[in-house]
Amino acid sequence: MKALTWHGKHDIRCESVPDPQIEEGRDAIIKVTACAICGSDLHLYNGIMPDMHSGDIMGHETMGEVVEVGKDNKKLKVGDRVVVPFTISCGECFFCKRGFFSGCERSNPDPSKAKKLWGSSPAGLFGYTHLLGGYSGGQAEYLRVPYADVGPIKVPEGLTDEQVLFLSDIFPTGYMAADFCNIQPGDTIAIWGCGPVGQMAIKSAFILGAERVIAIDTVPERLALAERSAAITLDYMDKDIYDRIMELTNGRGADACIDAVGTESDPSASWDARLDRIKVATFMGTDRPHVLRQAIHCCRNFGTVSIVGVYGGFLDKIPMGSAINRGLTFKMAQTPVQHYLPILMDRIQNGEIDPSFIITHTGSLEDGPDLYKTFLEKKDGCIKVVLKP
Ligand SMILES: NC(=O)c1ccc[n+]([C@@H]2O[C@H](COP(=O)([O-])OP(=O)(O)OC[C@H]3O[C@@H](n4cnc5c(N)ncnc54)[C@H](O)[C@@H]3O)[C@@H](O)[C@H]2O)c1
Ligand SMILES: [Zn+2]
Ligand SMILES: [Zn+2]
Repeated sequence: MKALTWHGKHDIRCESVPDPQIEEGRDAIIKVTACAICGSDLHLYNGIMPDMHSGDIMGHETMGEVVEVGKDNKKLKVGDRVVVPFTISCGECFFCKRGFFSGCERSNPDPSKAKKLWGSSPAGLFGYTHLLGGYSGGQAEYLRVPYADVGPIKVPEGLTDEQVLFLSDIFPTGYMAADFCNIQPGDTIAIWGCGPVGQMAIKSAFILGAERVIAIDTVPERLALAERSAAITLDYMDKDIYDRIMELTNGRGADACIDAVGTESDPSASWDARLDRIKVATFMGTDRPHVLRQAIHCCRNFGTVSIVGVYGGFLDKIPMGSAINRGLTFKMAQTPVQHYLPILMDRIQNGEIDPSFIITHTGSLEDGPDLYKTFLEKKDGCIKVVLKP
């Protein structure tokens, strides 16, 4: 089959690779009908996540049609149309039973490296390093789905691939980001990053009752799309973000702040962002947490900082003094996608949201390497890429 494979920094190829096979009784194989490129894939593309191997298949936002099921899989049958969560979860362990699917303690077959780095291992993920299981991803013609009687959700009649594909990751992620904020009537939510995750967080914050959303980025098309979702937008290149948020909130700060940027914050945003870039380049630091610092400062006393932008290692100069003295709550996670799937499928089905509004580019797997570049460079108005194998 054809698949997009990783070969080092900025080197993604469309290659022929062996077809996946059923390996365990609960597996399924799906024929991919649509898959997407995520901001998290850019961390691999930029070579900043450790433990990718040459030839690894990329991709963790995938849907398709079931073409084969293992002998123990009682939930799926050939012909079912499903969306596959990016988190691989057994459904039976301590964490899965409590709904913390992205903390599954069984799905990473070699948890030792993650344990060394993070203390414990989270769930295995599709197409996302050997630290997190070394699973082949779904930017391919076919995908092997382990524990396929837990993760995939069947798509009801009448919904297009474009409407449901983002249930695999960015819609639940944006929704979780807003859910973490415990939104009360009258609340103002500030969101850093108007990429796909930020856009989903804006919509979700309004769905969950926010009165105002302040959205921060610098890319004109992304700010314009945020405005179309009724957000007040701020360009971090020409405004002092702290001052503007204080002006908009009677000098108090936002009720909750969402970091939908993560480790690759724009180094030109400020002096501390530039310093982070230098520290990472000289192996004196692991991440660029400028947005997290700013979100903490801009959050009102006893507010919530909701972190869904991904970080990898040990973050420097985080203003914990500000956080503890002012009573902030921190919430963060790789999304336990399965936990949110039924309710978000309902919200799509009853017309509250159509997540396809963020798609700007569609192509084939062969177009994949070029579209990675377009997405990274935010060229040609690119906000979200969907590939149709
Ligand atoms: N927690 C999860 O489960 C989960 C799931 C999916 C994605 N993510 C993470 O969410 C983040 C965003 O993903 P995406 O797909 O939207 O990616 P993206 O790269 O398209 O979007 C990031 C946006 O942040 C903006 N940005 C950069 N520096 C900024 C700054 N200083 N202030 C404000 N905005 C700034 C960029 O211009 C860009 O529009 C990534 O870190 C990704 O890894 C996490
Ligand atoms: Zn993702
Ligand atoms: Zn589990």
